[in-house]
Amino acid sequence: MIFRQLFDTVSSTYTYLIASRKGGEALIIDPVLDRVDRYVQLLDELDLKLIKAVDTHVHADHISGLSELRDRTRCITVMGEESGVDVVSMRVGDGDRVEIEGISLDAIYTPGHTDDSYSFLMGDRVFTGDTLLIRGTGRTDFQNGSAEAQYQSIFNRLLKLPEATFVYPAHDYKGDTVSTIGEERAFNPRLQVGSVQEYIDIMNGLDLPNPRMMDVAVPANLHLGLDQGTPERVQWTLDAETVIDAVDSREAVLVDLRDRSERERHGVIPGSVHAPYPDLDDQIGPGGTLKQLADTSDKRLVFYCAFGERSAMAAEAARAAGLAGSCHLKGGIKAWKAADGPLDTLKLV
Ligand code: FE2
Repeated sequence: MIFRQLFDTVSSTYTYLIASRKGGEALIIDPVLDRVDRYVQLLDELDLKLIKAVDTHVHADHISGLSELRDRTRCITVMGEESGVDVVSMRVGDGDRVEIEGISLDAIYTPGHTDDSYSFLMGDRVFTGDTLLIRGTGRTDFQNGSAEAQYQSIFNRLLKLPEATFVYPAHDYKGDTVSTIGEERAFNPRLQVGSVQEYIDIMNGLDLPNPRMMDVAVPANLHLGLDQGTPERVQWTLDAETVIDAVDSREAVLVDLRDRSERERHGVIPGSVHAPYPDLDDQIGPGGTLKQLADTSDKRLVFYCAFGERSAMAAEAARAAGLAGSCHLKGGIKAWKAADGPLDTLKLV
């Protein structure tokens, strides 16, 4: 496994780059905008293809690298479903899995620092965002934070993990890099409390100044979505009503780009073809299934995903690969449901 802990010296943020092998798919957690050049260089050096970029929550102390990485690598942006961010490609809920080739993260909803904070468990290690830090915990006094929720997240979720589980936080200000659940339970000063109220009193008594970057970072981090309003992109964007008509009149083949877990959870458009987004380049390249479909059918391909971001990028890539007429469903399955489009449920195997 490739596992890199990268550090942003300005915001003291840890960013994690993970892949199962050289030459394979990669995932990044909590990237920082100012460090994107470095991540892209490292991806090149290790011959990795970035598939997913995950933020553990809306950060207040640095601008996220999610949208820049998406624009440069066409990766999938991932955040929790509680997040107020305008558009990400994929949202996860408690118990969902974030998967790439050879790697699987379990999403654990751990609100408290913010109401959209997630931790991600990967085998023997957990990425705790700003929920559990090394000998500390994330502040709970803004962004819908709650000391009580954080207590529950830490004591009832994170501290229930095996003691030997490595703790990789999103920040450290003292130079520590990794801890364990057992170590934090024993030595984290904030966790040596006998009741929820005692923890709430500690957190409410911190009286911290706002982060320096907060007024810039939070608004920027709430607007990570792909700009879909360019004249070029508008041309190949169809609203849900238009797509419903095109399906009814058999003028379109719908192509679902989502992961299996999203299809199981949110349903699929009847008759649609499944082509997971990470495989897109192969599918639209010479000999690819979608390329053949486009060449042999007089129907246009209409890509769809969860919120319309992956599909916008897919339509652009398909057109560039010669699949003329490729379009995408604006707003994804969410807009489809709002327009009362028909849905099939996928049977869990
Ligand atoms: Fe934070």
